[in-house]
Amino acid sequence: MADILILTLTLTLLSLCLLLLFLSNSHKTKSPPGPKPWPILGNLPDLLPHRGCLHRFLSDLSRLHGPLLTLRRGSSPLFVASTPASASAVLRTHDRSLCGRHVPAAFRCPAYIPSTFIWSTTLDERWRSVRSLCKSELFSSMALDAGSAERERLAARMVEGVRGRAGTRVDVREGCGVMVNVWAIGRDPDAWGNAPEEFCPERFIDHHDECGVDFKGSHFKFLPFGSGRRACVGMPLGHRMIQLVVASLVRNFDWGLPDGGMADQLDMDDWFELTLERKRALVLIPSEVGAC
Ligand code: HEM
Repeated sequence: MADILILTLTLTLLSLCLLLLFLSNSHKTKSPPGPKPWPILGNLPDLLPHRGCLHRFLSDLSRLHGPLLTLRRGSSPLFVASTPASASAVLRTHDRSLCGRHVPAAFRCPAYIPSTFIWSTTLDERWRSVRSLCKSELFSSMALDAGSAERERLAARMVEGVRGRAGTRVDVREGCGVMVNVWAIGRDPDAWGNAPEEFCPERFIDHHDECGVDFKGSHFKFLPFGSGRRACVGMPLGHRMIQLVVASLVRNFDWGLPDGGMADQLDMDDWFELTLERKRALVLIPSEVGAC
């Protein structure tokens, strides 16, 4: 009896191993390259230790395996695009079939999901009508121009708020699936030259011979608002707000680091959660322009 039990167990284990081997080989032929997945768990054991710096880890993997790589979350594939060309393939060529959105577990709350369209998993009728309403009623040039006086009033209030605290410290905290690693793309030396991390705003200027880099989603090497059907619908407002806020803060104040620190000593470590944030808050000290 014991022999039969051992034989049955051994045969079951053997067939399980063969099945796993078959499954792990069966996706090898069709998918883009990627690190070898573990049985059952896929690449989760490789990814978990890199929580928080997944963007860097995926960028390193793409240097090893290629611009479009395959990872496995358990048995389901996750493709990662890490260059402008592969991003264009995902967000332009295959946009129609890839424009669903993966909803992270933390947001899968039945009371919350139906009332948002940012987490709409498919492009259903509701998504279409809310998006078109946003475009025509909230973010059209006319609607935004109508709100510009109010935004300027609020920006002036922000400047007064900072002025009231001039000389004190200000904390500024920046933080099948397909993923586009825009962090890696924004640092791709083939797209940006040898020093992609250097502060060089001239890159974005239109020259006579060469077009500057645009942020609206048609230049796949710079995608702050995404691209394609699911691109940021609030881009026109986001763009105006960033200009107004940064211009107000730079025009009205000189900014320094505590204890006479130098900009090149700043700790620029980042941390990836839902968004990419600074690991440690940026602490700045404003002083009135021309005060010293
Ligand atoms: C500088 C400011 C902003 C940045 C950098 C930004 C960036 C983004 C990005 C990267 C996406 C995802 C694109 C994709 O999945 O391919 C997105 C989606 C979205 N953004 Fe923004 N955004 C900004 C401001 C805003 C503002 C001001 C609003 C509204 C008031 C807004 C509303 C949305 C919505 C509703 C979506 C989801 C669109 C959809 O799923 O169809 N964003 N944004």
